[in-house]
Amino acid sequence: MNRILVTGAAGFIGFHVARQLLERGDAVIGFDVVNDYYDPALKQARLAELAAYPAFTFVKGDIANRSAMEDLWRVQGPFTRVIHLAAQAGVRYSLENPYAYVQSNCMGHVTVLEMCRHTEGFEHLVYASSSSVYGGNRALPYSVDQDVSRPISLYAATKRADELMSHSYSHLFGIPQTGLRFFTVYGPWGRPDMAPIIFARAIAEGRRLPLFNGGHMKRDFTYIDDIVSGVIACLDNPPARQAGEALARILNIGNNRSENLLDFVRLIERELGRKAEIELLPMQAGDIEETYADVTETTEAVGYRPTTTIEEGVPKFIAWFKQYYGTN
Ligand SMILES: NC(=O)c1ccc[n+]([C@@H]2O[C@H](COP(=O)([O-])OP(=O)(O)OC[C@H]3O[C@@H](n4cnc5c(N)ncnc54)[C@H](O)[C@@H]3O)[C@@H](O)[C@H]2O)c1
Repeated sequence: MNRILVTGAAGFIGFHVARQLLERGDAVIGFDVVNDYYDPALKQARLAELAAYPAFTFVKGDIANRSAMEDLWRVQGPFTRVIHLAAQAGVRYSLENPYAYVQSNCMGHVTVLEMCRHTEGFEHLVYASSSSVYGGNRALPYSVDQDVSRPISLYAATKRADELMSHSYSHLFGIPQTGLRFFTVYGPWGRPDMAPIIFARAIAEGRRLPLFNGGHMKRDFTYIDDIVSGVIACLDNPPARQAGEALARILNIGNNRSENLLDFVRLIERELGRKAEIELLPMQAGDIEETYADVTETTEAVGYRPTTTIEEGVPKFIAWFKQYYGTN
């Protein structure tokens, strides 16, 4: 039986990835600090779902804490396959609390790299980057060949730093790695600080719904099931070893469709049976007008093929939203 470490297992993506690994028969050790960046009750509810699987073990701890990570490896490890999703996420909060980003995303990432470096027979580290590394790039769709040296938020800068640190570790120590640039993930058990839940809550509660940049925003919304299959396909297909070459690849993981934010709002309205009271506001600092993923390399490398349109994904997301938040 495979034993896989999933960091950030109480988080949105980590929970879904862990559950799918358990479903296919892997053993999963979930590691998460369960912080209160958003309602920890949602994180606990996700962990309660995972606890139903006998092959799931949860360890609470901080990836940036070296001794906690050494204990984790000693007691539950060693781990030769790691999916590293724990991070301080969110663009806007990085203007408010920059230290949280440097601590979790930089110190935490190096600590994970160090643990992998000292693991004999280490096979593959799959870690989360973000579409935000593309910053204000104008050429769409975003392709992994583009220059990403101009991040426009500290969050993006820490994610780009992760990619660079990973590259150096692959080069120096031959650690096979895949960095995944996620594009706006949504679905059941989603994050309450992200647009889909902010929109759904505002509409359900009859509150005004602020839309930035006058509503002229486009996002490559990616349904969680497509993300999960992509992450697991990456895990199972580490980059091929080539003599003298660093084994660090970076891939986009999006839906390969750029959707108008207003169309997404209309679908939520339809599923909730209520109209949104939209308030148009100016662009926010650090935000990006449009995201759109070119996933050609991801398809070639691991067979990734997203299939869920927003017309299919939003009803599933809202069905969960109604049940979890008790709205009709
Ligand atoms: N959801 C998206 O659309 C999206 C987009 C781009 C990138 N990402 C990245 O994907 C990863 C997963 O995102 P998510 O949406 O599941 O976020 P999330 O916030 O739901 O999950 C992250 C989890 O990491 C945990 N965590 C934070 N700091 C930690 C630390 N120092 N030690 C241990 N645990 C810690 C949190 O408690 C949380 O449960 C993150 O790295 C995020 O930056 C997500």
